[in-house]
Amino acid sequence: MTLRDKIIYMLVSKKGEFVSGQEIARSEGVSRSAVAKCVNSLKDDGIDITSVNNLGHRLNKNVNMLSEGAIRAYLNDNEIDIRVFQTIDSTNTEAKRALTGGLVGNALFVADEQTAGRGRRGRSFYSPKTHGIYFSCVFHPEVSLADSTAITSACAVAVCDSLKNATKKDPKIKWVNDIFIDNLKVCGILTEAISDFESGRVESVIVGIGINLTTEEFPDELKGIASSVGEELDRCALVADIYLRLKALCDALPDKSFMDKYRDYSLVLGKTVNFTRNGTDHQAKAVSINDNGELTVICDSGEEMILNSGEISVKLA
Ligand code: BTN
Repeated sequence: MTLRDKIIYMLVSKKGEFVSGQEIARSEGVSRSAVAKCVNSLKDDGIDITSVNNLGHRLNKNVNMLSEGAIRAYLNDNEIDIRVFQTIDSTNTEAKRALTGGLVGNALFVADEQTAGRGRRGRSFYSPKTHGIYFSCVFHPEVSLADSTAITSACAVAVCDSLKNATKKDPKIKWVNDIFIDNLKVCGILTEAISDFESGRVESVIVGIGINLTTEEFPDELKGIASSVGEELDRCALVADIYLRLKALCDALPDKSFMDKYRDYSLVLGKTVNFTRNGTDHQAKAVSINDNGELTVICDSGEEMILNSGEISVKLA
């Protein structure tokens, strides 16, 4: 970590208490004047720090600026590889590049802005700077390829739990894995796995999460579809919280008891849905979601169908 990140790390870890310049200087092996200079530059960047003679420095408010130091302090983890970018093409793509380049442990790739954010089905993901949070979690779970698909459902539950805890909102999961608030999409999840073809085991999983936090203007094609959480949140705390929740669920796999929560958060169960299968349009009632994430529907024709992927549209009125 840079000195800047180390100071943020110490200030966030102290949770609003003073930490002396001397203590920081000693722990980082730098001079007190180097610490003072760095604290001043953090203040210049808008971080709300109070400095008092004989007491030291105190962080008054959460750091909304993305920083490795703050994320690491919230995670309380010195092992994980955390890479923060002001701008990047896609955190999932960057994670893939890192894995190809030899990354072995768990990791977090976090960006303030993506210039080529990717969604499912080859779509792009609108990722403007400052107003959202775009990050990819890299895990190496000991699961089969079949079980690894549950990680996306686990992630949807982790995001909903985290948003429910941090806001006054009521997040819902639109099957398969979009997060909606007030019937509009605020978060998308893109999971990609690198697996060993011969053993059928998953080597690494990249879970990419994009959350619109305060975005107000969307491109025309997203109008009436996408929206924002609508509350300014501490983005570093949010990333850390979602990561920790997701990691706990991944570590417990193949236990899928989180699917009860997935069903509780479901926006579609009991609703009328429309979908296309083999070129034919269907209208149906969504009746259940099993632990593999498959959606059972009863079509207007009376036929029961099990959907395991694809797109449905749901009548929300
Ligand atoms: C979707 O809605 O179809 C999935 C969107 C996933 C977006 C996230 S943002 C962070 C990560 N990097 C990407 O390029 N995509 C995912």
